[in-house]
Amino acid sequence: MSIKSATLNGVATIEIARPEKKNAITAAMYAAMAEALVAAQGDAAVRAVLITGQPGIFSSGNDIEDFMQRPPSLTESPAFGFMKALLGCDKPVVAAVTGAAIGIGTTMLLHCDFVYVSDEARLAMPFVSLGLVPEFASSLVLPRLLGNVRAAEKLLLGDPFTGADAVEAGIANAVLPAAEVVRHARRVAERFNSLPPGAVQETKRLLRRAARSELMETIALEGKVFGERLQSGEAKEAFSAFFQKRQPDFSKF
Ligand code: COA
Repeated sequence: MSIKSATLNGVATIEIARPEKKNAITAAMYAAMAEALVAAQGDAAVRAVLITGQPGIFSSGNDIEDFMQRPPSLTESPAFGFMKALLGCDKPVVAAVTGAAIGIGTTMLLHCDFVYVSDEARLAMPFVSLGLVPEFASSLVLPRLLGNVRAAEKLLLGDPFTGADAVEAGIANAVLPAAEVVRHARRVAERFNSLPPGAVQETKRLLRRAARSELMETIALEGKVFGERLQSGEAKEAFSAFFQKRQPDFSKF
């Protein structure tokens, strides 16, 4: 199983565990993550959720083979199901970014409540170089956090950035030594064991309320364009190049 989930001491942990493919997330893995989030939401013993990866890799993003074999449509996309569960989770979600976070590996962080990043991690949203577009409201959230010109570096050029950059941008809380990041994130999650859960959940709902309809509208629009882009010749060239371990050639487009 490439998603491990377990609840311990009030914290439901969702661990992405497919190191042989750099924690690329398949349709089945999104479904398992969504299921774990919904279960955490419904379990009174769970006070917070922790999402984590493997040493050196948080996630290399959506499984590119899945993109080629089973290009998701907007309404049926398992990734959409996962993000809907993440956006709908009223319990605090803490991310421990154990290493590289690419594509949705970074996008999902924009919807977590606390983000701790290993000092070895690099984040990136290289959608354009895959012939795709930003997803899950990153085209809305990033310009707001960073301003247009710095958002363009990350979303138009797909430039990678460090945990320190993520902290400066307000995407992450802190950078920690790689060996410490999961322990620290768990400690933060466990703090909710001694806080009143009703007040915590109402506060999270209030914190997220104002932006919600805009977020959902942007997610739907991005999803539509993303689905169209998945069928494009540009995306097919980018995916083939990835698996053939060569540079893509976009000169014919
Ligand atoms: N989807 C499917 N398979 C992936 C993958 C992904 N997103 N990311 C990595 N893999 C696979 C590779 O194909 C390779 O498989 P193989 O051993 O069968 O050849 C294996 O994972 C190891 O990856 P590799 O690229 O050899 O590791 P690396 O240490 O050199 O580089 C990354 C690691 C994460 C930098 C690199 O794999 C990468 O850039 N991945 C794609 C990231 C991406 O563009 N994601 C966005 C998707 S929207």
